[in-house]
Amino acid sequence: MEKTLILVKPDGVQRCLAGKIISRLERRGLKIIALKMLQMDRALAERHYAVHTDKPFFNDLVKFITSGPIIAAVLEGEKAIESTRQTMGATDPKKAAPGTIRADLGIDMEHNLIHGSDSPENAQKEISLFFKPEELLNYTRDIDRWLTGS
Ligand code: RTP
Ligand code: MG
Repeated sequence: MEKTLILVKPDGVQRCLAGKIISRLERRGLKIIALKMLQMDRALAERHYAVHTDKPFFNDLVKFITSGPIIAAVLEGEKAIESTRQTMGATDPKKAAPGTIRADLGIDMEHNLIHGSDSPENAQKEISLFFKPEELLNYTRDIDRWLTGS
């Protein structure tokens, strides 16, 4: 089982598309094992998008991602990283394949609704930026506990 971090970006929350976006990922078999709403500050955004520090779009990216509340979630499933990236679609909604979240609902490169980790290393790093280890549900262990009441 693999874990990935997703963010419903400020445009997704503002357009009331968060439920729809997360639902599409759940329908692909991914399970929510952590979830929270927050507004990122500049420091968190700079760490989260550290790989893009030198890119010309970095400042706009940080400004946008900190512009309003977002929803952060950890999803778990087989090939969670690849499944999520596939369901999200390409970065530019105009180039994303039909049927993907970004193609169907996204507006442009900035307003592309969702972030998803792009590698196991980045997933691990990003999850730890947003969640403490004890905030992640251990599905197998916890479901078993709930069912048996132990
Ligand atoms: P994300 O990190 O947000 O999940 O998106 P991604 O992997 O598909 O794309 P990435 O290359 O990591 O870029 C991060 C975000 O920066 C903005 N961007 N703008 N103007 C540009 O050329 C440009 N390139 C990237 C996008 O908003 C992208 O989601
Ligand atoms: Mg990326």
